[in-house]
Amino acid sequence: MGMAHVALAAVLAMAAAAATASASPALGIQPLSKIAIHKATVHLDLHRSSAYVRATPALLGNQDEDTVWVTVKYGWDNPTPDDWIAVFSPADFISGTCPNPERYPAEPLLCTAPIKYQYANYSANYLKGGKGSIRLQLINQRADFSFALFTGGLENWNQRGSSENFEVQPKLVSVSKKAVFKNPKAPVFPRLAQGKTHDEMTVTWTSGYDVSEAYPFVEWGMAGAAGTRTPAGTLTFNRGSMCGEPARTVGWREPGFIHTAFMRNLWPNKEYFYKIGHELSDGTVVWAKPYTFRAPPTPGQNSLQRIIVFGDMGKAERDGSNEFANYQPGSLNTTDRLIEDLDNYDIVFHIGDMPYANGYLSQWDQFTAQVAPISAKKPYMVASGNHERDWPNTGGFFDVEDSGGECGVPAETMYYYPAENRANFWYKVDYGMFRFCVADSEHDWREGTPQYKFIEECLSTVDRKHQPWLIFTAHRVLGYSSNSWYADQGSFEEPEGRESLQKLWQKYRVDIAYFGHVHNYERTCPLYQSQCVNSEKSHYSGTMNGTIFVVAGGGGSHLSEYTTAIPKWSIFRDHDYGFTKLTAFNHSSLLFEYMKSSDGKVYDSFTIHRDYRDVLSCVHDSCFPTTLAS
Ligand SMILES: [Fe+2]
Repeated sequence: MGMAHVALAAVLAMAAAAATASASPALGIQPLSKIAIHKATVHLDLHRSSAYVRATPALLGNQDEDTVWVTVKYGWDNPTPDDWIAVFSPADFISGTCPNPERYPAEPLLCTAPIKYQYANYSANYLKGGKGSIRLQLINQRADFSFALFTGGLENWNQRGSSENFEVQPKLVSVSKKAVFKNPKAPVFPRLAQGKTHDEMTVTWTSGYDVSEAYPFVEWGMAGAAGTRTPAGTLTFNRGSMCGEPARTVGWREPGFIHTAFMRNLWPNKEYFYKIGHELSDGTVVWAKPYTFRAPPTPGQNSLQRIIVFGDMGKAERDGSNEFANYQPGSLNTTDRLIEDLDNYDIVFHIGDMPYANGYLSQWDQFTAQVAPISAKKPYMVASGNHERDWPNTGGFFDVEDSGGECGVPAETMYYYPAENRANFWYKVDYGMFRFCVADSEHDWREGTPQYKFIEECLSTVDRKHQPWLIFTAHRVLGYSSNSWYADQGSFEEPEGRESLQKLWQKYRVDIAYFGHVHNYERTCPLYQSQCVNSEKSHYSGTMNGTIFVVAGGGGSHLSEYTTAIPKWSIFRDHDYGFTKLTAFNHSSLLFEYMKSSDGKVYDSFTIHRDYRDVLSCVHDSCFPTTLAS
């Protein structure tokens, strides 16, 4: 390893430190964090004679599309392998105004990270002829775009060793003219979520319209019937709501306005249509595309119910930018399988670690765009992960920097979920014969805390004769995992993960406890206090005696390694990208399946067949007192 690589490794290690905790996955660096944009220098005049960047078309979304492809042609007479093309939005990124001059004493000209980048020699023959052409995908993100050619690499690192004191850093040599969507403020990327009760569906979307400029609403109704209009609430947040860097500095980007409308008194299982819109002051309406959804079943309803659960999906760029294969290599596969399979499931639970924006706010728009084909049609229920929430000294349980300064604000605003207080990311969902208790592993869950109280309340208030299938979820592994970093510390769980909770899972007969955070798949036997309490492996019947623990963190982010010794309770492990599906056929029959994201096929499954009396009967530590009286 040469000095240059030592220096590069140091830069990468610093970036990694922002993305990981000591006990968390060590891989995975937000690609935008590799760019030392605040150290870039501007050389537009020097190279004006030969350097150029041109993007076509300049007017985007002519047919009101929210996602378009742009061709970028560029070149100059001094091409190097370190040259790169950056996309900036807003287009005017050389404003010279930095938010925290005291943080950057050299007063750099560039204070905003690009929204994506690609190496110039991604285009064949760039190094030979000095001319390149690439195609980039853009989404409507409320502002205009410009494309810039940089030389000198992404980072500020010493290419030739410290003795020569020669620093290579990004140098801007050319900028394109602006490209802009026909209506940059258009409402985009709707996301459904079940409300506080089963008969309430919420739709959340993003636009560039503040409520003073246009009135947000949803027009909706039963398929074939006339629609009604229901107003939406509007939220946003500002740079000051961010807790640290880069979210407060180079990663900041205006989030626009986030609107949520509530569609209430839904008839179970009925098909509804909806269309989001904004009424301008002159009475005209800016509409988004129409969509349909199926209303959730009533709690206890006996009908086919299918639920997708996974975590840690992340995002990637379909144009290959941001070195996408290095960050969340499986995310587009998972997304595409779920889009293809839309007719075969009813609701989605993404249990934390969503875009891994890590303080680069533009990435939240990119993520909502990526999952919009799913979330516009199925309730997309989210949980909080370390990459959404964690930041030191901000009230979370983990004093680490995994959110890149976001401290939960974008996640808690961009998505709706039926929590009492959305700063506390815990809530329950009744979906037909299921109850989900969604916990927040980034806040203290131990006995005596408000979250523990919520968990016990959620688990204890479900009537199992009508809702037999009781599911617990959290992002970090509060149950069991034979992932290597947990095994190395001898815990096989997040430290203090199950110590308080396992007696609740046992007492209230939780069927399955789901976790992410560990980026692989693993399923245990029915388990209590580290002991298998049932010798069956795939066709369970009668009393379960314990809870089955599932890690479903292979949604797309780089994979995590297992420990070599396989614990007795570990029944199936798969070191690959995948997601899981629960199918309740009726009150006594449940199917669990694990699918790989690469082909959508089932690689592990089990069934549970049992009756109400099997849930009621006595199991270890959960026997109810009886009297001898007759
Ligand atoms: Fe995580």
